[in-house]
Amino acid sequence: MKQYATYAIGAALVDTEIQVNDAELTAMSVEKGVMTLVEESRQAELLDHLTGHLVRANHASGGSAGNSMIATALFGAPTFMSCKVANDADGDIYLADLEASGVAHSLHDKRGGGTTGKCLVLITPDAERSMNTYLGVSETLSVAEVDDRAIAASEWVYLEGYLVTSPTGHAAALHTRQVAEANGVRTAISFSDPGMVMYFRDNMEEMVGNGVDLVFCNEAEALEWGKTDDLEAAMSAIRQVASSFVITLGARGAIAFDGSKTFEVDAHKVDAVNTNGAGDMFAGAFLYALSRGEDYGRAAEFAVRAAGEVVKFFGPRLRPEEYRTLRREFFGD
Ligand SMILES: Nc1ncnc2c1ncn2[C@@H]1O[C@H](COP(=O)(O)OP(=O)(O)O)[C@@H](O)[C@H]1O
Ligand SMILES: [Mg+2]
Repeated sequence: MKQYATYAIGAALVDTEIQVNDAELTAMSVEKGVMTLVEESRQAELLDHLTGHLVRANHASGGSAGNSMIATALFGAPTFMSCKVANDADGDIYLADLEASGVAHSLHDKRGGGTTGKCLVLITPDAERSMNTYLGVSETLSVAEVDDRAIAASEWVYLEGYLVTSPTGHAAALHTRQVAEANGVRTAISFSDPGMVMYFRDNMEEMVGNGVDLVFCNEAEALEWGKTDDLEAAMSAIRQVASSFVITLGARGAIAFDGSKTFEVDAHKVDAVNTNGAGDMFAGAFLYALSRGEDYGRAAEFAVRAAGEVVKFFGPRLRPEEYRTLRREFFGD
């Protein structure tokens, strides 16, 4: 067993979640269900527009890969997160959350000026999340933040697809994959968002390279990758670049393919109020289950159970003790 179950690289963001209705989304010209990169001034303008009819605001560290690494670590398998935060209050929040969760990082002496990235997450009554992200210093995440030693000491690396938008972040992801391959570390990538596949296709293909061991994506990203509206065709396209994959299907559950067998898993039946962080929790729980030697079927069962829990509440993650409860209920230890 290596030191870390998973080494991840991705944007460090602090989330503000606000409940809105669909008319407000339209009035603010926010594209529903996806991540849109915005300037800090646009975030401020949106927040301004929402004061007064703000129903519920929630401030917590987020960031896709970070959420997943926190989940894996809190379930009980050590992880390492490679990211970039500034010397500001949001940077403090982000780092405190990593440390409280037991996620290793190398940020101690590396915090500079600028602004930590932040994500304004608008939640509609159907539990869908629409993200408006200002990357801040995460835009300049680079190979300088990559820790080759920690990669070699990991079972898996996990590349966040959102890195396609930043030239230096993209280069850092390529470097991470190469170091992993040179050290026999298995490679996983998340496609992150349909827009990342659509608008940054060349960069995403470069991140996938000659193929990865595992692709994580949701249904919209899978269809976008296959340039199709047929899920079977999308799965064939993903198989061209990945020896295994998991496609999450929202309230319909997930499909996992381990290289020879396909597992279809129903979602956990819950009243979803906020799906922010669902895919992140799914990936973190799935990687945790793999680290215990579970097969893809059982890993997917655990992941839908965990993701089903996170969508019941506001906030992108659960409270620390809830991860232990989920593990105990599912694995009995
Ligand atoms: N409404 C829901 N009810 C129950 N589980 C859900 C619901 N929405 C999402 N999930 C769980 O979260 C997982 C990921 O959700 P999905 O929306 O597919 O990913 P993403 O967050 O990447 O868009 C699903 O596979 C499922 O297990
Ligand atoms: Mg979704």
